[in-house]
Amino acid sequence: MKALILVGGFGTRLRPLTLSVPKPLVDFANKPMILHQIEALKAIGVSEVVLAINYQPEVMLNFLKEFETKLGIKITCSQETEPLGTAGPLALARNKLIDDSGEPFFVLNSDVISEYPLKEMIEFHKSHGGEASIMVTKVDEPSKYGVVVTEESTGQVEKFVEKPKLFVGNKINAGIYLLNPSVLDRIELRPTSIEKEVFPKIAAEKKLYAMVLPGFWMDIGQPRDYITGLRLYLDSLRKKSSSKLAAGPHIVGNVLVDETAKIGEGCLIGPDVAIGPGCVVESGVRLSRCTVMRAVRIKKHACISSSIIGWHSTVGQWARVENMTILGEDVHVCDEIYSNGGVVLPHKEIKSSILKPEIVM
Ligand code: GDD
Ligand code: MG
Repeated sequence: MKALILVGGFGTRLRPLTLSVPKPLVDFANKPMILHQIEALKAIGVSEVVLAINYQPEVMLNFLKEFETKLGIKITCSQETEPLGTAGPLALARNKLIDDSGEPFFVLNSDVISEYPLKEMIEFHKSHGGEASIMVTKVDEPSKYGVVVTEESTGQVEKFVEKPKLFVGNKINAGIYLLNPSVLDRIELRPTSIEKEVFPKIAAEKKLYAMVLPGFWMDIGQPRDYITGLRLYLDSLRKKSSSKLAAGPHIVGNVLVDETAKIGEGCLIGPDVAIGPGCVVESGVRLSRCTVMRAVRIKKHACISSSIIGWHSTVGQWARVENMTILGEDVHVCDEIYSNGGVVLPHKEIKSSILKPEIVM
């Protein structure tokens, strides 16, 4: 079975992290976002993943080479010379997606995180006999997404409306599809949207079906949602394999600590924290609702909450970092500094406090 991941876009909403690596390579819960997806695809027997990409394919491929061997899955790129939207890339990769088996293939948006119930999706797809299946999930603010109206008992999609201005329903497209090869015959090789041009047509022919996604779901393409997404992910990890979470008197709630990270005496860590490989957290540090990426040093008595600390950064003694502060790669926050929502570009040194949310260039 094959799969295509839509990896286009520049990830501007996740800057400054995406100034260092393409969005799918930004770490989430101690590994690049896209690895969560590739591992889930591998687990249900996908043998080849095609990355539909419109810039820097070398960076992605170099990085993923290691995982090709480790996971035993083929990873290739299909590169656009102009952005082809969410459907055009499927037409471009047509020859990579179809083979003699006639099997359906998966398509994933690269910025969503969930439990990826892909096995269940295959069963669902077989059961309805339609042309395409999509996962849907309920959200509070449906207007930011593609809204899907279904016939309750069968899941047959009656209407698909991308980013509706008026309320049509609260079930939205989760960005995970299973498509028969015949869907490719509906897509021309030009910039085009699967949500606006393809799904509405399949729905009109009553051949599009939606399955309600069990478990959590989040589009983690912006900092606030990224931090909420980590909470949901760790909650789910607690239920499924709690032994992966840290335990001890200094841990509160769900905390993920890489085995190579060092934690000092008298810290209080959690809830909803991820600490990446090679990090050093010195004594007396307080961390909550935050991500600390690879090779970060947090010095004594610093306090970090609701923030993301990019790779190789340092946070000084007694510093206080909070309220959606996002430090890019290799940022150095001096001792006793306060950051209230600072968004700091890579390689900066912060010598004076950031008193209100702002971008520090
Ligand atoms: N290769 C390629 N080329 N990929 C692209 C392009 C392109 O020109 N444009 C967007 N993508 C990729 C993005 O990287 C992302 O993985 C996916 O297509 C969806 O694009 P977004 O820009 O993230 O769309 P969205 O979040 O506003 O809406 C989409 O996702 C929602 C769920 O998060 C839609 O699919 C909605 O219907 C859906 O509800
Ligand atoms: Mg998105």
